[in-house]
Amino acid sequence: MLSLFSLSLLGLPFVCHKSFFYSRRHIYYRSHINATVDMVSAAWYAGWHAEDFPLANVSWDKYTHMTYSFAVTVPSVHNVSLDGSDAEVLPKFVAAAHQNGVKALVSTGGWTGSRYFSSNVATEENRTAFVKTITQFATTYDLDGIDFDWEYPGNQGIGCNVISSNDTSNFLAFLQELRADSVGKNLILTAATPVTPWKGPDGNSLTDVSAFAKVLDWVAIMNYDVWGSWSSAVGPNAPLNDTCALPTDQQGSAVSALKAWTAAGMPAHQTVLGVASYGHSFHVDALDALECDDDSSVLAAFPAFNASQQPIGDKWDDPAGTDVCGQTTGPGGNFDFWGLIDAGFLFSNGSVASGIDYRFDECSQTAYVYNRTSEIMVSFDNADAFAAKGEFIKANNLRGFAMWEAGGDSGDILLDSIREASGFDDDDDC
Ligand SMILES: *[C@@H]1O[C@H](CO)[C@@H](O)[C@H](O)[C@H]1NC(C)=O
Ligand SMILES: *[C@@H]1O[C@H](CO)[C@@H](O)[C@H](O)[C@H]1NC(C)=O
Ligand SMILES: *[C@@H]1O[C@H](CO)[C@@H](O)[C@H](O)[C@H]1NC(C)=O
Ligand SMILES: *[C@@H]1O[C@H](CO)[C@@H](O)[C@H](O)[C@H]1NC(C)=O
Ligand SMILES: *[C@@H]1O[C@H](CO)[C@@H](O)[C@H](O)[C@H]1NC(C)=O
Ligand SMILES: *[C@@H]1O[C@H](CO)[C@@H](O)[C@H](O)[C@H]1NC(C)=O
Ligand SMILES: *[C@@H]1O[C@H](CO)[C@@H](O)[C@H](O)[C@H]1NC(C)=O
Ligand SMILES: *[C@@H]1O[C@H](CO)[C@@H](O)[C@H](O)[C@H]1NC(C)=O
Ligand SMILES: *[C@@H]1O[C@H](CO)[C@@H](O)[C@H](O)[C@H]1NC(C)=O
Repeated sequence: MLSLFSLSLLGLPFVCHKSFFYSRRHIYYRSHINATVDMVSAAWYAGWHAEDFPLANVSWDKYTHMTYSFAVTVPSVHNVSLDGSDAEVLPKFVAAAHQNGVKALVSTGGWTGSRYFSSNVATEENRTAFVKTITQFATTYDLDGIDFDWEYPGNQGIGCNVISSNDTSNFLAFLQELRADSVGKNLILTAATPVTPWKGPDGNSLTDVSAFAKVLDWVAIMNYDVWGSWSSAVGPNAPLNDTCALPTDQQGSAVSALKAWTAAGMPAHQTVLGVASYGHSFHVDALDALECDDDSSVLAAFPAFNASQQPIGDKWDDPAGTDVCGQTTGPGGNFDFWGLIDAGFLFSNGSVASGIDYRFDECSQTAYVYNRTSEIMVSFDNADAFAAKGEFIKANNLRGFAMWEAGGDSGDILLDSIREASGFDDDDDC
């Protein structure tokens, strides 16, 4: 029998025989994960970062779906707007995705763009009009699908969203009408969700989302921003687990989110794990950041931080300013994974730079870095954190992952890590 080594000596292009190995991997999936569905390897592509992260830089061959962000809701139910997301890039995005065999979706809403979902779906008349708006938008741009990133039905998001206690039932009625539409029936319909099921009319999480499962292809659980500048201490941006944390530190995680959504009737194979290629920064006094362990100093868990000295993140960070609601906001403090490299926290291969303190939290399976001079601590996901999430996806038969955002990674360090761990075939050698 020829070894792989001798095959390559013979000059056989085994390494690049993608289709052979790819289809074998599919057979593996089909027998072990689900006989009828293909895995999802997805990311959101932020239209407003197209200049810094051009379409040509997307590793299309590592994705099955890519979602352009955002088409924001506007006061009129007859339109959505690409203002702020570079409308001119969208047709090129769709063309590039299709050239690469990747499904092209557009995400509607987002943190700043969810203001008018509630009124758009409030009445039968508006739902019918909004179905027409969405299907025409999908047809105009030749999209394969639409992602609904309503933050959040039945629960205020940014602060000035229209909101109604009937939001979730109206959302469902809208999705059902969209699914029944002649265009809508062929679209991939997904939703980006909070870590707990959407709120019902009583303000509590829905206990039955099975009707949503019938009309959506999948939900992508946004398991990030769990801890940030609004929190009481420095905690994990994107915890894999929190049932191992102190009760007061159980703010959500992939483990608890999957449990909550599946208990409410969303099958695991219709659940995609939302993962973050960015982290949150905090100003932490060195006295709080470090504790003694024998003779050396180690980073403390859940230290206090000084909110009045919120660091500014990388150049993609939101600067201090005024939001769409007219409220004054501080800097976001976000560092993309590449931004942590740029700022000297990490080497370009993603490992911790010399002179930087590091902690990998075993419960959340996420990383922390700290610069004693600037007193900046960042909670983020590194390759090990992404590998742990990939293993979780595989072990629990999730549909796959979706990363916010495609351009946050550096040299595919994160993407390759989660793909490999969740069982996708990587062909880096080609
Ligand atoms: C596989 O996916 C199909 C279609 O979504 C679903 O009906 C079925 O229950 C899934 N099977 C398992 C074992 O998860
Ligand atoms: C885009 O790709 C080019 C060519 O490989 C590379 O030089 C550049 O650094 C990349 N930019 C980003 C933002 O990834
Ligand atoms: C809808 O919005 C787009 C820009 O996003 C604009 O070009 C178009 O004129 C608008 N259509 C209507 C009917 O308002
Ligand atoms: C229906 O949509 C229109 C905008 O096109 C909006 O003005 C109106 O308030 C909506 N109806 C409800 C009940 O929210
Ligand atoms: C919610 O829907 C019910 C039934 O359609 C209706 O009677 C009620 O007025 C609605 N409530 C709100 C706040 O729109
Ligand atoms: C989460 O933590 C609980 C409690 O420590 C543990 O039993 C479980 O195995 C952990 N799950 C994962 C995926 O790490
Ligand atoms: C937080 O930072 C501000 C501004 O530098 C400073 O005035 C304040 O004393 C700090 N608070 C604490 C608790 O260290
Ligand atoms: C830590 O921050 C200081 C001040 O911003 C900076 O000069 C230094 O290069 C940083 N250290 C490392 C190892 O990046
Ligand atoms: C990452 O890069 C640093 C600095 O160049 C180097 O010291 C380290 O060995 C590299 N780590 C790995 C795993 O390659």
